[in-house]
Amino acid sequence: MSLRTFIIALSVTFGVAWFAVVVIPYFKMRDLAPVAFTEAADGATGVFFPKRTGRIANGAEVYGENGCYLCHTQVVRPTYAGNDMFRDDWGGLAADPDRGDTRRETNAWDFEGETFAYIGEMRVGPDLSNVGRRVQSAQGADAEAWLFTHLYNAQEIPDRYRSTCPPMPFLFKKRAITGSPSDEALDVEVEQGFEIVPGSDAKALVSYLLSLKKDQAVPAVLNFAPAKTDG
Ligand code: HEC
Repeated sequence: MSLRTFIIALSVTFGVAWFAVVVIPYFKMRDLAPVAFTEAADGATGVFFPKRTGRIANGAEVYGENGCYLCHTQVVRPTYAGNDMFRDDWGGLAADPDRGDTRRETNAWDFEGETFAYIGEMRVGPDLSNVGRRVQSAQGADAEAWLFTHLYNAQEIPDRYRSTCPPMPFLFKKRAITGSPSDEALDVEVEQGFEIVPGSDAKALVSYLLSLKKDQAVPAVLNFAPAKTDG
């Protein structure tokens, strides 16, 4: 084979792959057309538009800046790519008190409004697609405080004493207590007369984490998940 043919063959090989895995998906996902619920299949009307509240944009930035996506995914994988659905609380809650089993796979619309889709690089820690739902269901009114402590130093939480989630103390402020301790103060060990309170980045990040509830009902056409199995 001449060098010229070799270079052409190489360019075509990589060109086709680049086109198929980068260019086509980009244009397919850049402007997602709304997907409608149908009366027949869903018993509902309207379009699928996942609503989330909180300081999502700022919090997502803090999430990116601190590399959370290196160890945490936000993709409940389609079953053909690995079964995530059996976990009680990754795709939603197996037993939501109001809605029953809300588990489902992630779809491209779940990232609507986000500058980056933090699908993640590796799964060292648990998937965070539904961390807001999960923590609120486990901790109730203490969800926010639980997340602050987890971010400050997860090993402060008794059942996470061996956690390898990196502590992020720089998102918090240590200050002298003046008068009575602040309502925002974390329940963590700190020297006498001082308290640890969340800074604005910690607040934005927790608000973002609490907004992660990607288990709203999807139109039947988007729900590829086969029957859910336990165990
Ligand atoms: C070096 C890898 C690593 C990085 C980076 C990392 N984490 Fe973790 N994270 C873990 C591991 C491992 C766990 C499981 C142990 C635990 O719950 O503490 C975890 C658990 C968590 C949990 C508890 C989830 C649950 O459902 O119990 C939250 C919330 C969390 N991490 C948030 C974050 C955020 C936010 C960031 C970025 C500021 C981050 N993590 C960065 C490894 C990491």
